[in-house]
Amino acid sequence: MEKLVIEGGRPLQGRARMEGAKNAALPILAASMLAEGPVGIDNVPDLLDIHVMLDILRSLGAAASMEGRKVCVDASKGFASEIPEALMSKMRSSIFLMGPLLAKFGEVTIYQPGGCAIGERKIDLHLMGLEALGAKIVEQGNRITCSAKRLMGADITLDFPSVGATENIMMAAVKAEGITTISNAAREPEIGDLQQFLNRMGAKVIGAGTDTITIEGVERLASCEHRVIPDRIVAGTLMVAAAATRGNVTLEGVVPGHLLSVIHVLRRAGVQIAIDDDIMNVSGARRPIAVERIVTSPYPAFPTDLQAQMMVLLALSEGLSVMKETVFEGRFKHVDELNAMGADIRVDLNSAFIRGVPRLYGAHVEATDLRAGAALVIAGLAANGRTVVDHIHHIDRGYVSIEKLFSQLGGQIERTASVQQDRMASSM
Ligand code: UD1
Repeated sequence: MEKLVIEGGRPLQGRARMEGAKNAALPILAASMLAEGPVGIDNVPDLLDIHVMLDILRSLGAAASMEGRKVCVDASKGFASEIPEALMSKMRSSIFLMGPLLAKFGEVTIYQPGGCAIGERKIDLHLMGLEALGAKIVEQGNRITCSAKRLMGADITLDFPSVGATENIMMAAVKAEGITTISNAAREPEIGDLQQFLNRMGAKVIGAGTDTITIEGVERLASCEHRVIPDRIVAGTLMVAAAATRGNVTLEGVVPGHLLSVIHVLRRAGVQIAIDDDIMNVSGARRPIAVERIVTSPYPAFPTDLQAQMMVLLALSEGLSVMKETVFEGRFKHVDELNAMGADIRVDLNSAFIRGVPRLYGAHVEATDLRAGAALVIAGLAANGRTVVDHIHHIDRGYVSIEKLFSQLGGQIERTASVQQDRMASSM
């Protein structure tokens, strides 16, 4: 099994250019099933989840190819509306296909994606939204079929601003008869990117980025070209890593406006951040200061997807910080691993109490999920000595070659495939 071997203690220095956002690309790829002609999507990150999504599109009868960062999908001959269970179980994001397939074929069958490492991850809000548009939902075991002769626009209020439910409802409503409004919609930038993509295909969607999205149904959606927005979570990961290693890193091709809550928290921790259009310099020359209270919440608040990474910086800061997680239960699996590296973190219900220590020490740790894995890599880069991170397939779901991302900035990090290579890495 592959692992990452990190020799820590070197400040990260240099420049890095941002990849496209996985969480924007996945729903956009699902939405491409709606077009009655080929669509071209650029700046798609070369990640396993993207390839699983392309496999699913092919299994549904679409032609889908990826060359470099450019994906072409032609779903005009799409024929199937059942997502194979084997592919569905590989990636939770396959639920994004519910809305588009229901709109395209009047029917869709999926298999419950089930829970995952960071919590239960229900889909009741997705189903409630589709039902409100007129879909009949039949659940048999873990098989769910939604069908509707004609989708009808509706006023839908979400109990919680779920990102996925907002996106699924948008993608179904673009071809519904009449007007749909989604109240208490999620406001994440990825939803704005989906709105732009849908509108480029001919949809009429307004309001993404606010808590009310309005969709006027259209008959047809056509070919278009689109470029995916930069990945704000990868950018945030690099910002925290720069600060935690007391380095100086310049990020190119970022959208600072998508990272305001992160910039605010890092500045409170004493990190220097300079912004010039889409370029951001992050410098953490001094030991960070504790941040009294950070609460993860839906956008524009501090993102749950950066909670684990930020905890590494807090673990190294001066004083006591509190991190409250309100989006996913069970998202503190990295805490035991960080404590094994010398951190002093105690969890009580959904809050972590982090007493900063002057340094972390290398250890053998395990990535339990995508962002927890990224946090352990940052901890390894900042720690004294060698860290080995196991179960890195989780990390590969969201970072295109994380070892290259950090080694271009001077981090000593290598991927090893076997025990033998692990020994070779010991000479680096
Ligand atoms: C998306 C992101 C993920 C991020 C999350 C929150 C993608 C591919 N993934 O996930 O990286 O961590 O937003 O920013 O974009 N919930 C329900 N019922 C539902 C749907 C959600 O109760 O029908 C709950 C979930 O269990 C969770 C919370 O709502 O506690 C947030 O989930 P949601 O916003 O839907 O996240 P995802 O779209 O799954």
